[in-house]
Amino acid sequence: MSKSVTVRVPAKVNVYLGVGPREFSGYHQLATVFQAVNIYDEITVESADELSIVAAGQYAQSIPCDESNLVWKAAKLVAAACGIEAQARITITKSIPVAAGMAGGSADAAAALLACDALWNGRLSRDQLDAMAQQLGSDVPFMLHGGCALGTNRGEVLAPIMTRAVFHWVFATFKDGLATPAVYERLDNLRGPEFSQPPQVPDEVLFAITQGDSKALGKLMKNDLQLASVTMKPILSNALEFGLDNGALGAIVSGSGPTCAYLVKDEKAAIDLAVALSSSGLVDKAIRAHGPVHGARILPHI
Ligand code: C5P
Repeated sequence: MSKSVTVRVPAKVNVYLGVGPREFSGYHQLATVFQAVNIYDEITVESADELSIVAAGQYAQSIPCDESNLVWKAAKLVAAACGIEAQARITITKSIPVAAGMAGGSADAAAALLACDALWNGRLSRDQLDAMAQQLGSDVPFMLHGGCALGTNRGEVLAPIMTRAVFHWVFATFKDGLATPAVYERLDNLRGPEFSQPPQVPDEVLFAITQGDSKALGKLMKNDLQLASVTMKPILSNALEFGLDNGALGAIVSGSGPTCAYLVKDEKAAIDLAVALSSSGLVDKAIRAHGPVHGARILPHI
């Protein structure tokens, strides 16, 4: 009987994203607060004679199904650590918007690490999986862990932020995505070569999260990349303002964008804002969500 493993993995929003100057490596020092939210992709891996990727779900058309997909690289890393050939059929069921600033590709890679390890009985340690996640991308370690965390260095060095609070969000998506490297490059150009300020997350942001104070958090949310993504897609500025005029406690671009993230008071405010955004003509879709939620998790067989 062929074995299969399914892992469910959430999307993320950067509640705060401080970006430092560009380093020699091309990367930027970050000081960021991640929060995992309940928009999920599912990755199913099954025994097969060779490695293949199949895309399913509402964003299936938007992802590559070859070795350029991070999931492919994740499967290869796990196989190498297990000392076996990477042989699996991997189905990615996509509900996380693509090229949207919600770490969908990184989430799938994190899920593939867990799923392949389970399929091949690798019994890799958490440290081994974390090391592979870091190798795959700056956001991948957080997608393994989930919850709420402070991310430093390139975003891959994590410190959990404890909170029992539930934060309510609306995410507005757009048809055309933005490429992360291009957004960072635009920021560098806008800032100029003299920029040297190291990034920092204010203590008030961490306090608002641990206290579950959405009102305070809404006012404190900030994303340094927003300056760049808004110049690349000016409609984002209208969409953010529209949210603030329609009940949002705070509105920022999520990660490198173009998704806009609106923090709202409660579920009712989320419904009201999602309806208003959907009929505004400014955005493609409005999705309600809450966080923090767990990171990548193996689903039990039913
Ligand atoms: O780490 P990852 O491969 O996901 O990063 C994608 C791109 O985002 C990088 O190639 C780089 O252009 C940009 N990036 C950056 N600084 C970071 C993280 C990402 O410049 N800390």
